[in-house]
Amino acid sequence: MSLHFEVPQDKIPSVGQRSFLKIGEQAFLLFNVDHHLYVIEDQCPHQGASFFSGKLDGCTIQCPAHGLRFNLTDGCMVNSALLKLKTCAVEHKDERVYIVLDSEVQA
Ligand code: FES
Repeated sequence: MSLHFEVPQDKIPSVGQRSFLKIGEQAFLLFNVDHHLYVIEDQCPHQGASFFSGKLDGCTIQCPAHGLRFNLTDGCMVNSALLKLKTCAVEHKDERVYIVLDSEVQA
């Protein structure tokens, strides 16, 4: 089962920007890459660091803690299948933006 969380308008990043969003106890980051929104859980699968200050190169985010890089589109670590960050689907409806969450997230 999934839940749809409506993203507040002021949390929708403009092109090239990112925003932080807390839903329940979980932290998420939203990235706008060339008018496409990507949402990841803001917790590195390596040792839990925040990606907020990570360097973004196209759809690749680099963790600021130890430099591992992950693809925003599928969460996979670049050049390895060892680690994967959690990504969320994004839906647009009537000019509103929704994050599709697993039922385990308490919104
Ligand atoms: S905590 Fe992200 S690479 Fe180590």
